[in-house]
Amino acid sequence: MKGIILAGGSATRLYPLSKAISKQIMPVYDKPMIYYPLSTLMLAGIRQVLVISTPRDLPVFRELLGDGHELGMQFSYIIQEQPNGLAQAFVLGADFLAGEAACLILGDNLFYGQGFSAALRRARTAAEDGACIFGYYVKDPRAYGVVELGEDNRVLGIEEKPDKPKSNYAVPGLYFYDATVCQKAASLQPSARGEYEITDLNRLYLAEGRLHVELFGRGFAWLDTGNCDSLLEASNFVATIQNRQGFRVSCIEEIAWRKGWITAAQLYRLGQQLGKTDYGRYLMELAEKKL
Ligand code: DAU
Repeated sequence: MKGIILAGGSATRLYPLSKAISKQIMPVYDKPMIYYPLSTLMLAGIRQVLVISTPRDLPVFRELLGDGHELGMQFSYIIQEQPNGLAQAFVLGADFLAGEAACLILGDNLFYGQGFSAALRRARTAAEDGACIFGYYVKDPRAYGVVELGEDNRVLGIEEKPDKPKSNYAVPGLYFYDATVCQKAASLQPSARGEYEITDLNRLYLAEGRLHVELFGRGFAWLDTGNCDSLLEASNFVATIQNRQGFRVSCIEEIAWRKGWITAAQLYRLGQQLGKTDYGRYLMELAEKKL
């Protein structure tokens, strides 16, 4: 399975913050936002990742992440000229995927909580038979894709930003698909708002009876970072957990090491490269103590 991070768009709701730089490069406490979705793909065991962004912003992601070898990974990059919709990731990413199954994550979605790796494993397995999305209970789901569930959490329907949601389960920006995803995405027509909708792609799987859902419990955190308040809340959340536990949230170097993709010596060197920062020291201490 290969991964795609969609990190384009114009983030007008964050103006003037995002007028000159990408939202997904902005800090969420101590690291660039894109580290969080990247860490999710890594936890799902994905080592080949395509980053999609705007003509303006893609060079910055390339500079930040490089070719991935330092993490025992492979990163590729492709431009999305216009924000024509999330499902376009599978038209732009068709050559990269080369017929493999895929996981798509939005560059501004942050996930954190116990049991996450196991949930990712279950979703990956479920998507061997079609697709797997997630459901997360929120007070007001109207700004999201919303999934309607029947008995045994069977998916009955999915709607994009409904005025009258049929459930409180929002669909986070994390999706697992089988190898037919590119073919399905290529068959989509733009919606009334002119976008290739991820919800329409999911509906094609639903029509085949092959759209599965994995629900996150109430102890789990799914945050997005669309406006200044949610950006600050995400930073505060990460700071609170990290300062309490001492473990870093979504530390991509740590995950690469724990997965066995890099050695302790490589982890130590990555820490050294970060100089005398807390982040750098954290990596070096991990490598020394093998925590
Ligand atoms: O966050 C989860 C939600 O993401 C889902 O519940 C919805 O079903 C899904 O449509 C999406 O809704 P949003 O309103 O958040 O989509 P938005 O257009 O804001 O795009 C999400 C991110 O993806 C944003 O950071 C910009 C980026 N993006 C968006 C589009 C449309 C791109 O990189 N390219 C695009 O073409």
